[in-house]
Amino acid sequence: MAAGGVGPLFDLTGRTALVTGGGSGLGRAVVEALVAAGAYVVVADVSGDRLAKLAAELGSDSVETAVLDVRDTAAVDALVDDVVARRDALDVVFANAGIGRGAGPGVPEGSLDTFDLDDWETLVDVNLYGVLRTVRAAARHMKPRRRGSIVLTASTAGLRADPLVPYSYVVAKAGVVNLTRQAALDLARWGVRVNAIAPGPFQTNIGGEGPADPAVVARWSSMVPLGRMGDPAEIQGLALLLASDAGSFMTGGVHTVDGGAMLQAPALREAGPEAV
Ligand SMILES: NC(=O)c1ccc[n+]([C@@H]2O[C@H](COP(=O)([O-])OP(=O)(O)OC[C@H]3O[C@@H](n4cnc5c(N)ncnc54)[C@H](O)[C@@H]3O)[C@@H](O)[C@H]2O)c1
Repeated sequence: MAAGGVGPLFDLTGRTALVTGGGSGLGRAVVEALVAAGAYVVVADVSGDRLAKLAAELGSDSVETAVLDVRDTAAVDALVDDVVARRDALDVVFANAGIGRGAGPGVPEGSLDTFDLDDWETLVDVNLYGVLRTVRAAARHMKPRRRGSIVLTASTAGLRADPLVPYSYVVAKAGVVNLTRQAALDLARWGVRVNAIAPGPFQTNIGGEGPADPAVVARWSSMVPLGRMGDPAEIQGLALLLASDAGSFMTGGVHTVDGGAMLQAPALREAGPEAV
């Protein structure tokens, strides 16, 4: 390792980054980490209110905000084109925007025969196609530059069945997992790295704005060997590793940050029939 400590490995000074869904939760934590590491960050989110709050609170010359709905292909392409045109760079992209739903097969309304197909389409449009649109737009600019790091937000729910989230969510996130691998394989020859972060349960606004219901927190915490939900700041170390030169030989990986949740089978049968 070069003299000067570990700082230079994670240094993003002079790099331009884009974070979708950066107005809240995990995305916002990523934005703060990237800014702290020296990057210029374009924060895109469908919520103008959240972006305004972020801009007021971060107050940094290193951040700009853009209202963006990742369901809009033309808008995703236009934003990425605009960032590259103005900054002549796009080094790091976090395709992170996503939405959640409460009902999984652990509760009756999440059953296979009762879920709502319109709701399925909305969720998949944001959580899978929205990620695909973002990755595709980023790749177009990174390929000719022969450098770049793309990080997708997957989920432990994309790596196994999950009793607390719906079919649409686990299917979309499983798609994100293999999109990561396929894009990593595709883009490696261009020097572009693609990785995913697969979070376990974190306390964010995905279940609704404001403090979470203690019963919900307890239920999620019971699925985690470390015995609690994650704090969004606990995503920052991995995010910086994947974004920076510290992760220069990492591509195609799906990295869990889950308090050990993937070590044990999720609890089933809480609301179902006693036996079949
Ligand atoms: N919180 C968790 O436990 C958890 C676990 C695993 C994966 N994830 C994933 O992490 C990502 C971030 O979620 P979070 O937990 O931080 O939630 P969050 O609700 O706190 O933040 C998500 C952000 O995405 C934005 N967004 C939603 N739809 C959008 C759209 N169509 N276009 C652009 N922006 C949009 C929201 O306005 C919000 O600011 C999601 O992909 C989510 O699926 C979260």
